[in-house]
Amino acid sequence: MSDTHLRLGVNIDHVATVRNARGGAYPDPLRAAKLAEEAGADGITAHLREDRRHISDADIDGLMEVLSVPLNFEMAATDEMQKIALRHKPHAVCIVPEKREERTTEGGLEVAREENRLAHFIAPLRDVGCRVSIFIAADQRQIEAAHRIGAEVIELHTGAYCDAHAEGRSDEAMRELEALREMSAFAHSLGLEVHAGHGLTYDTVQPVAAFPEVRELNIGHFLIGEAIFLGLTPAIAEMRRLMDEARA
Ligand code: PXP
Repeated sequence: MSDTHLRLGVNIDHVATVRNARGGAYPDPLRAAKLAEEAGADGITAHLREDRRHISDADIDGLMEVLSVPLNFEMAATDEMQKIALRHKPHAVCIVPEKREERTTEGGLEVAREENRLAHFIAPLRDVGCRVSIFIAADQRQIEAAHRIGAEVIELHTGAYCDAHAEGRSDEAMRELEALREMSAFAHSLGLEVHAGHGLTYDTVQPVAAFPEVRELNIGHFLIGEAIFLGLTPAIAEMRRLMDEARA
């Protein structure tokens, strides 16, 4: 793959959400992950939440066994999750904030306020070879802190941009996009690899995909929803096409 290739990480959490609605075995997130691989996903992302509301421990065991592409393991910075990550040693670990009452990951991590603790938290993960990514808002202070604690990657939270776009607040969407553009370039200038994600859709993906510093997009909820209408393979293929078009 060339240096400029924009990777697509497909997040399969919400296949597990649908499965868990009935507590049974289907739809199987592992089957979705294999299909996503075949459809051109460069990686699979899964978030093992503290309350296990979608992905389960057994799903992570299974993904580690069956995947041919890298697993990006999203987790909160807790001792329990650190133990799980150290046992599996996934390709990448993305540290996300987690609040029990939230519907989804609402904001970026407060790295600046917790610098010391997070530096100690990620060191063992790096030691076993995981690429550590920090999920943060497009905020220079947080990016500088992520850099200082030794993260190799930051993932910029695109949720505020996507929400503003979806709700027709176009001036705000443009401002959020501009902040994402500036902060992608700033993080890159520090030597950080830049990823982005959260809430991206066919309508919002292209401006972010066009930022040359962004190397990976992680997209889940929209794709799994779209798969109901199109099937997972065509839904992913269309996202891939839009990303490539924006990048060209
Ligand atoms: N990136 C991170 C760090 C996330 O926490 C999530 C949601 O789990 C995503 C990307 C994907 O967001 P969405 O499911 O809205 O596409």
